[in-house]
Amino acid sequence: MRLVLLGPPGAGKGTQAAKLSNYLGVPRISTGDILRKHVAEGTDLGKKAQAYMDAGKLVPDDLVIAMTERRLRESDARNGFILDGFPRTIAQAEALAKLTPLDMAVNLFLEPEELIKRNTGRRVCPKCDAVYHMLMNAPKKAGVCDRCGSTLTIRADDREEVVRARIETYERQTAPLIKYYRDRGLLREVYASGLIDEIFLRTKEVLKG
Ligand code: AP5
Repeated sequence: MRLVLLGPPGAGKGTQAAKLSNYLGVPRISTGDILRKHVAEGTDLGKKAQAYMDAGKLVPDDLVIAMTERRLRESDARNGFILDGFPRTIAQAEALAKLTPLDMAVNLFLEPEELIKRNTGRRVCPKCDAVYHMLMNAPKKAGVCDRCGSTLTIRADDREEVVRARIETYERQTAPLIKYYRDRGLLREVYASGLIDEIFLRTKEVLKG
């Protein structure tokens, strides 16, 4: 399965991609996670990307396309993948189309006010990338990762003013991909409100057809 997950910031792409990765047996490739690792390690790419990410803007296409192409060439992606957060512009979608065919693009959609709550309550594990929400998807022990025991942190771009900027960036630059994939017969829509497991069931249903 070669799958793209679309959706605004906080719709639950990462949460569902992790479950789908287990279910389908293909890797989850999150461009946000890869970029955050570059920032944490202070690589050249990380230094170039950080200011864009902190401002809620997109990292330039040429950098992200080259980074994702490298990742898709790794052997674990040969039999399929779930792309979480890529493509985010028409130029990225066209670069991806040259690289590989897709089976489907699933769009997770949700009301803007719900997106703000999800982002501002998010806690993440800096070690294993697990994602929690302090009210709606809390770890067993407050502030501690269930999976690896690390101390959870708040993402630098989850402050409310940056979340609003990320939603605005999404509307302007990424939402046009909904039509792009609909026109190519690849789009499936999933309403992303409700319990995480309910949304997973809805997503598995659309994968059948
Ligand atoms: P990225 O990391 O991709 O961020 P995003 O798209 O803004 O998406 P999020 O990770 O914020 O949300 P999500 O939809 O994955 O939701 P999640 O599952 O975490 O990108 C960050 C930045 O990197 C970008 O702003 C940009 O600068 C750069 N970048 C990345 N890719 C790029 C690209 N291709 N081109 C250019 N720049 C790029 O869930 C959110 C919260 O809600 C969590 O707390 C979770 O526990 C909770 N939650 C999830 N589902 C539910 C539910 N059903 N009920 C209650 N709570 C839920």
